[in-house]
Amino acid sequence: MADRCKRGGNSEGYSVVLRFILVLVLAVLVRGARVTSRIRERVSAPVLRFGKDGTFKIVQVADMHYADGATTSCQDVLPEQYATCSDLNTTIFLNRVIAEEKPDLLLFSGDNIMQEDCKDPIASMNMAFGPAIEAGIPWAAVLGNHDQEGNMSRERVMSYIASMDYSVSTVNPSGDTCSGIDGFGNFVLEVFGAAGSPQAHKSVMNLYLVDSGDYSTLSPKIRGYGWIHETQSTWIKKMSKKLQLAYLNDAPAQPQPAPSLAYFHIPLPEYSNLAPGQFKGVKQEGISSAQINSGFLTTLLEGGDVKAIFVGHDHVNDFCGDVHGLKLCYAGGFGYHAYGKAGWDRRTRVVSAALSKDEHSEWQGVRSIVTWKRLDNAKFDMIDAESVWGQDSNSVQ
Ligand SMILES: *[C@@H]1O[C@H](CO)[C@@H](O)[C@H](O)[C@H]1NC(C)=O
Ligand SMILES: *[C@@H]1O[C@H](CO)[C@@H](O)[C@H](O)[C@H]1NC(C)=O
Repeated sequence: MADRCKRGGNSEGYSVVLRFILVLVLAVLVRGARVTSRIRERVSAPVLRFGKDGTFKIVQVADMHYADGATTSCQDVLPEQYATCSDLNTTIFLNRVIAEEKPDLLLFSGDNIMQEDCKDPIASMNMAFGPAIEAGIPWAAVLGNHDQEGNMSRERVMSYIASMDYSVSTVNPSGDTCSGIDGFGNFVLEVFGAAGSPQAHKSVMNLYLVDSGDYSTLSPKIRGYGWIHETQSTWIKKMSKKLQLAYLNDAPAQPQPAPSLAYFHIPLPEYSNLAPGQFKGVKQEGISSAQINSGFLTTLLEGGDVKAIFVGHDHVNDFCGDVHGLKLCYAGGFGYHAYGKAGWDRRTRVVSAALSKDEHSEWQGVRSIVTWKRLDNAKFDMIDAESVWGQDSNSVQ
């Protein structure tokens, strides 16, 4: 811990800034005028809030595995599709989802780029997240296990993501590298009530974004994927308590806490608890969680406000099921340069939350949260619509 804090002290703060500036300068040199103007006029995303129609919609994009664009080949498409398929198909799909679903927030749940295949990871990220920026939609990203597999570290990748236009991502709590938290990309997004409504200045739904790591930090004793560490659980507990108290007590006081959702990359071991028949969607491969259980589900259950977890990582699993009253969901793979299953459409998971109305027809807190998937096929099929949470399910306890 002492080491981490020394590393995270002021001089590290400066060197992070310096490295960050260096990255930007390089980006300018490489990318030319387009990036220059992006840096000069970095556009901050607006505050997240429910719309005048009382809804807030999140589109989850899992595992784009973006590399170099037009020159990058696809994996697991039909034989006749290889010749005309590249990363650009991932971009086309993203533009399509944005146009059709008109999300209020785009959430990229890791393996956004496949860095070992990227000539220039910055250029890859500019391409991968480009549609969100061009559409002017607030977006957030967390890291997977492939985002840093090259010469750009997790910290630098996440810093760059946090610096991009319309990004609502943060590297870590209070931007303090000395916070002692593990990973890069641990932050909370607060979604405020509808403009002009009694809850316009309160967060009525919270999103916890967590870095679930890449690979085991205890290798070779424990091999395989990473996990969410105790420092992150401690932080989540603190945030959850604070947000719940604020929602219950700040005017207008509320009878029950606001619902929250968690997004990260690697599934928790409890995803394996779900047997066929206990979920909606498909399970076509094993659950690639860490080989040990760091107790994050317990953390969320004790906090009580999180109603569902959304991950990626296993591209051909796209199910949602109930474990201890919490929905554990996959999005299913989005990217064409990522492994998948030929003939099984790339997909995205949509989550839509709706507010309740009081007797004066004014928007209140969240009444229900539902989810469905969209497939990148000719009909843009919408499948597996289901409830994630409803106000009634809370009062049962
Ligand atoms: C990829 O995009 C090209 C160009 O629009 C299109 O012809 C091709 O069918 C797409 N491939 C897949 C697998 O969607
Ligand atoms: C990392 O940098 C080295 C030296 O410049 C280069 O040879 C290598 O290809 C780079 N690796 C990746 C994945 O970009």
